[in-house]
Amino acid sequence: MSNHNPILEMVNITKRYDAVNGMDSPLVLDQVNLSLMACDSVAIIGPSGCGKSTLLNLIGALDRPTAGQVIIDGTDLGTQDEPSLAWLRNQQIGFVFQTHHLLPQCTAWENVLLPTLVPGCRSMMPDRVDTAKRLLARVGLVDHIQHRPSQLSVGQCQRVAVVRALVNQPRLLLADEPTGALDQDAADSLTELLVELNHEEKVTLVVATHSSELAARMARVLELKNHTLTMIHH
Ligand SMILES: Nc1ncnc2c1ncn2[C@@H]1O[C@H](COP(=O)(O)OP(=O)(O)OP(=O)(O)O)[C@@H](O)[C@H]1O
Ligand SMILES: [Mg+2]
Repeated sequence: MSNHNPILEMVNITKRYDAVNGMDSPLVLDQVNLSLMACDSVAIIGPSGCGKSTLLNLIGALDRPTAGQVIIDGTDLGTQDEPSLAWLRNQQIGFVFQTHHLLPQCTAWENVLLPTLVPGCRSMMPDRVDTAKRLLARVGLVDHIQHRPSQLSVGQCQRVAVVRALVNQPRLLLADEPTGALDQDAADSLTELLVELNHEEKVTLVVATHSSELAARMARVLELKNHTLTMIHH
């Protein structure tokens, strides 16, 4: 795909979850449209329960919409079977969550290399190893690669999680409340890091956040309100 095509397109996305305990199935997203190009950065804001994580999960192929299309780099996710979606999630999409979800028994280095250990990927290992080394140095953890998560600060763990998300050089980095568990200093430095990596790694960045500081650093801010996205000028 050329750089002039969107990395992500959402076309008339509607999402209802299945009814729980006989309650009506709630409408979360209603005809949402979104188009992002290479290196775009966008914040999704809105109150708790408005559907930010739902939106990110649909973009990240972790869930399927009730109606509408999610298209990543020209591939319509609705046409893909589960193994293809698993491959796409591994290769094209990086995820960062509020908590780091690193494996406690593995070192930073091992955690970062986990996404490279998929079947069929063996021949790519040498450049993945180089990318892992480069990114760990870039985030200031070159002296910590043999540390386990319990031997790292929460902010350092979140940096390892960012490197793990980027190690396969995905087109899209999805971050769901990435600074939510960090103190102010660690949140500020993670925000800076995400902004810099967005450009350096040429990755399209989508963050869902309650942090106005983080949102303000993205090129665009979109508010999820009344089940749809509205542009906020800042
Ligand atoms: N698996 C599910 N089954 C049923 N309803 C769900 C499910 N996941 C989320 N919901 C509902 O969908 C709505 C949107 O939830 P979502 O987690 O996307 O909100 P959010 O904006 O990410 O909130 P927060 O800021 O608290 O993270 C909520 O009403 C929630 O209860
Ligand atoms: Mg959420």
